[in-house]
Amino acid sequence: MKRAALVFALTCAGFSEPMATPKYSNDDKLVRPTGWRRWMFVGANYGMGYAPGENIDNPKPKPGTFHNIYMQPEAYDHFAKTGEFPEKTMLIMEVVKPGTHASINKRGMFQSEQVGIEVALKDSKRFSDKWAYFNFIGEGGKQLNESKAFEKDACWKCHNAHGAKDNVFAQFYPVLREARPEVGEPLKTVKSAH
Ligand code: HEC
Repeated sequence: MKRAALVFALTCAGFSEPMATPKYSNDDKLVRPTGWRRWMFVGANYGMGYAPGENIDNPKPKPGTFHNIYMQPEAYDHFAKTGEFPEKTMLIMEVVKPGTHASINKRGMFQSEQVGIEVALKDSKRFSDKWAYFNFIGEGGKQLNESKAFEKDACWKCHNAHGAKDNVFAQFYPVLREARPEVGEPLKTVKSAH
């Protein structure tokens, strides 16, 4: 049976299309994921800094970027049900520069230029550390069709040490906190931003 006919038959029978899974190139790079705009939108953060000195009390913080985070709807369903991220979970973090004073805008910020498409991917069979991290916008804003996993020190270490659940910063994604309140625990002493 042709794939389209099979998908149609499964859909009619109450099954949906299978979860989008990662594709790899021959030289072990991750192929740029597609279709994520239609995935589940789990959170948005603005201007978060993780380095010492990037404190909110700092009178002149650097202008930050917006982070929009998406994950496969099937991975979300599994997480909501079990509290675990299934194998082949992909979280896409779109990094966007802020814009202001354009069109009718007089204050506040809107999202302007996309500067990063970062991906967190769980694939224990392929990566001995379970999770690997990629970016599909390279040096000088170059769009990449394939991307090599970052070294462990660059990304994995911080995610592993501080992500509330299985390397994922679920504590900062309201949609995941709503589904599994236990991941919000680290935010109990939250300070309100102004
Ligand atoms: C010092 C800590 C730290 C380092 C190093 C770090 N991250 Fe993150 N990352 C975070 C935090 C905190 C968040 C969640 C909040 C946000 O930034 O919006 C996050 C979120 C993410 C997400 C969204 C999914 C998730 O796992 O929560 C991706 C994708 C991501 N980072 C990719 C990367 C990549 C690629 C690198 C390495 C180049 C990297 N990160 C390095 C702290 C870090």
